Amino acid sequence: MFPTSRLRRLRYHPAVRALVRETRLTPANLILPLFVRPGERVRQPIQSMPGHGQLSPDTLAEEIDQARALGLGGVILFGIPEAKDATGSDATSESGIIAQAIRAAKQAAPDLLVMTDLCCCEYTDHGHCGIIGRSTGRLDVENDPTLELLARQAVTHARAGADVVAPSGMIDGMVGAIRAGLDAAGFSHLPILSYAAKYASAFYGPFREAAESAPQFGDRRGYQMDPAAAAGQAIREIEADLEEGADLIMVKPALAYLDILRQASQRFPGVPLAAYNVSGEYSMVKAAAERGWLDEKAVALECLTAIRRAGASIILSYWAKEAARWLE
Ligand code: PBG
Repeated sequence: MFPTSRLRRLRYHPAVRALVRETRLTPANLILPLFVRPGERVRQPIQSMPGHGQLSPDTLAEEIDQARALGLGGVILFGIPEAKDATGSDATSESGIIAQAIRAAKQAAPDLLVMTDLCCCEYTDHGHCGIIGRSTGRLDVENDPTLELLARQAVTHARAGADVVAPSGMIDGMVGAIRAGLDAAGFSHLPILSYAAKYASAFYGPFREAAESAPQFGDRRGYQMDPAAAAGQAIREIEADLEEGADLIMVKPALAYLDILRQASQRFPGVPLAAYNVSGEYSMVKAAAERGWLDEKAVALECLTAIRRAGASIILSYWAKEAARWLE
């Protein structure tokens, strides 16, 4: 009791504060998301995400170079094809935009980790994360027919040189189907990072401008999780993916779901845990900072530190490059 115990003793000196600071954030924890579209010398700014743009494979190579020089943990690539169709066929083509992007990235920096977002919504004309049908009585993603498509996408990414594939569609059985597809094609060594607990979140708004992937009708609530669902549902999603062979797991978004991250890290201590600090989490701070209402650097580092403290060792963040510079 006071005055014997004075907690300020652990704070009175900067070196004491540093000594007892247990949460470490380093560039190696951070993964930079990048959007790639066809063309040359393209750097098309994304209005709602200042500092980010859609890149062509050649400009992507420059970003990859910077990511490597800054010591980032890696990048995650999203492809935006010129032509979209009902099944997202560009995503399974060896000459498609994502395959081109992967090859360009690996050529620019063979040692930098290249992950790929594995989903249909960036490639389909309807903007949904799979094949559309009415078997449930509503127009929605048909679960099982989509699985074969995802497995083919995974093999396309693997052949182009991806180091990790990250399925983000919240399709039941996706991890198992992708695992089987990769194994059959000779890629049994390739890890799967599953977006295991992914919520139907309004924080993805700016991303849909970035990836031109807004659903053309309806929403994603038939496959992504309900934000109000009991946390146990997230645990079941993670368990199911681990049983199917997921090597790493993700919770998404991050900031409004730190409770889920914490539970996942306690429940699955041996499984590498990632969090996606999504577009809306980035854009709202950028917007406030532009108005002079917040100190962007301080707020961004506080957010990233909170995500680490909640239990994520891998953070996908649009601040990855800036944060790496701030941490130097
Ligand atoms: C694709 C995908 C999305 C995001 C990552 N992968 C969009 C969505 O589910 O609508 C969102 C990322 C972000 O907001 O930064 N399924």
